[in-house]
Amino acid sequence: MKQTLTVKLNKKKSYMIEISDSSFAKLNRDIAEITQGQKRLFVVSKRVYKLYSDKLDIREDELFIMPDGEQEKNYKNYLRIMDRALEVGLTRKDVIIAVGGGVVGDIAGFAASTYMRGIDFIQIPTTILAAVDSSVGGKTAIDFAEAKNIIGTFYQPKIVYVNINFFKTLDRRQFMSGMGEVIKYAMIEESCKYENSLYLFEFLTLGYEKILEGEPLTTIRMIEYCLNLKAAVVSKDEKESGLRKVLNFGHTLAHALETITKYKKFTHGEAVVYGMYFILNWAYKQGIITYSYYKLSTELLDKYGFKPLQIKYPPQKLVEIMKKDKKAGTGKITFIVPKDKKLVREIQLTPDEVMDMF
Ligand code: GLY
Repeated sequence: MKQTLTVKLNKKKSYMIEISDSSFAKLNRDIAEITQGQKRLFVVSKRVYKLYSDKLDIREDELFIMPDGEQEKNYKNYLRIMDRALEVGLTRKDVIIAVGGGVVGDIAGFAASTYMRGIDFIQIPTTILAAVDSSVGGKTAIDFAEAKNIIGTFYQPKIVYVNINFFKTLDRRQFMSGMGEVIKYAMIEESCKYENSLYLFEFLTLGYEKILEGEPLTTIRMIEYCLNLKAAVVSKDEKESGLRKVLNFGHTLAHALETITKYKKFTHGEAVVYGMYFILNWAYKQGIITYSYYKLSTELLDKYGFKPLQIKYPPQKLVEIMKKDKKAGTGKITFIVPKDKKLVREIQLTPDEVMDMF
């Protein structure tokens, strides 16, 4: 089965996303066809290369193996990719292809956007997290001076191939990390302004057994729903001047938790889940959402085996980190808060107000 959707953007930047369970042989053929006549540099996650090198048609002389982990998304690896691109002899007409999770997609995208002022870029996400989020939308980045994504560009890929066969080798924790972002989409669906109702919230509630089993058709549908929502948002606000911020539901606390633990304790999805429990709880206590929606939304998270954060980090330190977030700008801290079922809105709070949330 294959589902195709389009991220509609102006200036010839629109691109397709293909979500399928087709064989790796078919994926190899698709890549060969779309890159015909081009030199290619594959930036491949080390973990993925170990598992899939015999299934993917990638020659040694067009390969850069990217070490895994957020700490590797740095300028040293960026420069190594540049070196390799020169060695391979990539020109302006050529292409960089990312095969891996978010770290690989972000750094390879940044390399593609800056090498010779920008060459073609293809995303092949191999985790659920990267498939539903970072591989689509054109955010590219590296981390620098302990600041995540502080150097980066908006640079859209030419095409995104989501092949769900890669998900079979995700461990439970990586799988659930992706599900954290998936549930986020259910809670923001109506704010994404997609043309139809997808009923993702209900789909996740009713379909959770098949989803957790990784049943292919259900998985493809789930990714498709999330990416329809992401594509709708990105089409309307490519550079995050407004609407795109809704995608950051749960992320204000998540980023602070990831930073305070130096990206070593929580997966991104786990941190987002803690952020969602936190803001849902706060919104309920403030009388912003009803008890019935508070219960419904936290029950969805509970159903997938998630729990609110049990460890207490010093609020003062978390708020300090939130103040430094590159997106803050105004001295205030941005939160995306629930408004009603599937609806969220942006609010700006002073650091003192955020302290009172804890
Ligand atoms: N990860 C949020 C975004 O792409 O805007």
